[in-house]
Amino acid sequence: MWQTYFQPTTLPETLALLQSHSSQARLLAGGTDVLVELQRGVKPTNTLIDISALHELRYIQEDTHYLTLGALTTHNDILSSAACHRHALALVQACQEVGAPQIRARATVAGNLLTASPANDTIPPLLALDAELVLSSPTGHRLILLTQFYQGVRRTQLRSDELLREIRIPILPQPRRSLFLKLGLRKAQAISVINLALVLTGQHEQISDARITLGCVAPTVVHAPTVEDFLIGKKLTPAVCKEAAHLVLRDCSPINDVRASASYRQQTLVNLLAYGLERLSSDTPENTLNDPRPVLLETNHAPQPRSPFRGTIETTINSQPAHFEEAAQKTLLNLLREDAGLTGSKEGCAEGECGACTVWLDGQAVMSCLVPAVQAHQASITTIEGLGKDGHLHPLQQAFIDCAAVQCGFCIPGMLMAGAKLLDEIEQPTQAQMRNALSGNICRCTGYRKILDALELVGGTKK
Ligand SMILES: Cc1cc2nc3c(=O)[nH]c(=O)nc-3n(C[C@H](O)[C@H](O)[C@H](O)COP(=O)(O)OP(=O)(O)OC[C@H]3O[C@@H](n4cnc5c(N)ncnc54)[C@H](O)[C@@H]3O)c2cc1C
Ligand code: FES
Ligand code: FES
Repeated sequence: MWQTYFQPTTLPETLALLQSHSSQARLLAGGTDVLVELQRGVKPTNTLIDISALHELRYIQEDTHYLTLGALTTHNDILSSAACHRHALALVQACQEVGAPQIRARATVAGNLLTASPANDTIPPLLALDAELVLSSPTGHRLILLTQFYQGVRRTQLRSDELLREIRIPILPQPRRSLFLKLGLRKAQAISVINLALVLTGQHEQISDARITLGCVAPTVVHAPTVEDFLIGKKLTPAVCKEAAHLVLRDCSPINDVRASASYRQQTLVNLLAYGLERLSSDTPENTLNDPRPVLLETNHAPQPRSPFRGTIETTINSQPAHFEEAAQKTLLNLLREDAGLTGSKEGCAEGECGACTVWLDGQAVMSCLVPAVQAHQASITTIEGLGKDGHLHPLQQAFIDCAAVQCGFCIPGMLMAGAKLLDEIEQPTQAQMRNALSGNICRCTGYRKILDALELVGGTKK
């Protein structure tokens, strides 16, 4: 899919590479959009500049003025951050709705902003929170408001020699209530049909400032200025919520597409906004998270210092050292299957949708079809072949046998790797956490009940 792969480890090195290759190369962070696009032949490129080894860009900082997210902040990082829960709850809620745990472990918020689809879930909350972007190029940095960043569908102000270095969210002194809502065609792995964010500021329930932003109803994510103006000075009574919601139709122009018709979008938008306003009229920010302990499928957060990639991938697979000379143009899944001879991980879709390729990469459950093989350089990989220990099956493998959870078996390696990672992360998960953990894994034989039974047998929920 690509011929040349750079993995710089410092920002100056990255900016120099961008300058010399800017017109032909593509930047890659988590790769969850780039690899899908390359698989589909969208924006093809010969050269990838992978910024995932720039550990200096993975941070969340809080000071008196800003909550700041480095460019490599993942959706999972947001879910785990107390500062984000304090100052950007709508963003946390949006990150919880993106894809599935294996996607959220790799995908960055910056990448979501830069793909610039009007359906992307982190854009409405960041727009409503007045986010600012710091863009870096070889000639310096510039600051741009998110509200000025988008030019149209998938078009932004980012120049080809620039990268997004950090996202800043102003911290307000006054209390604010915020909420993100999404309507998709299913609960996980679903592009939004409609999404929206609400950020209301004010004391004694009277609204002094309202930010309402809408996704999937215009070429870019937009504010709803009629609703925002209407809400100022008001209290959220049921009548106000209803009237405000109807006004939203003046602020958007949805289209028909594969996911919904324009009229369906209009009707559901009114209802969703009314529901959101009513929810904010009674809720405190603390109790508006769907799951107070979201499943991450990650048990090792700290990035380890690594020697830079220089053409050979040196890695550890199932506790055995391995090196690969000719795999830099491959995905991790293809490296495992073709070069390492480990065919337990399956390719169901090659687009991050089915979970059959799930392996562990440095303690994270990942969709290996969306991970460039070079991202495994100096890392530790566990595949289904290494899940059991010392000749014994993993307890979850035994439970799959005991519960007769296997039909054709194609999805089972991915189910096991996701399920076993959940049990590493949370010893006794709830049923909701189990469903969340497996939400990125599809079984074409539809044997979900027995698969959940097996997980419950080991996780202890079921007697
Ligand atoms: C199965 C699946 C389900 C998904 N579900 C959802 C969903 O529910 N909601 C949703 O909103 N999205 C969803 N996505 C989309 C995707 O996961 C997000 O857009 C993700 O946040 C992109 O981040 P990334 O780090 O993977 O970006 P990448 O794929 O690495 O990059 C995305 C784009 O940003 C550019 N880029 C990345 N970082 C920088 C930077 N620092 N500076 C300049 N350019 C940069 C890249 O060149 C590329 O154009 C899904 C994707 C998949 C595969
Ligand atoms: S998610 Fe990787 S093959 Fe389907
Ligand atoms: S058991 Fe056949 S795909 Fe799941």
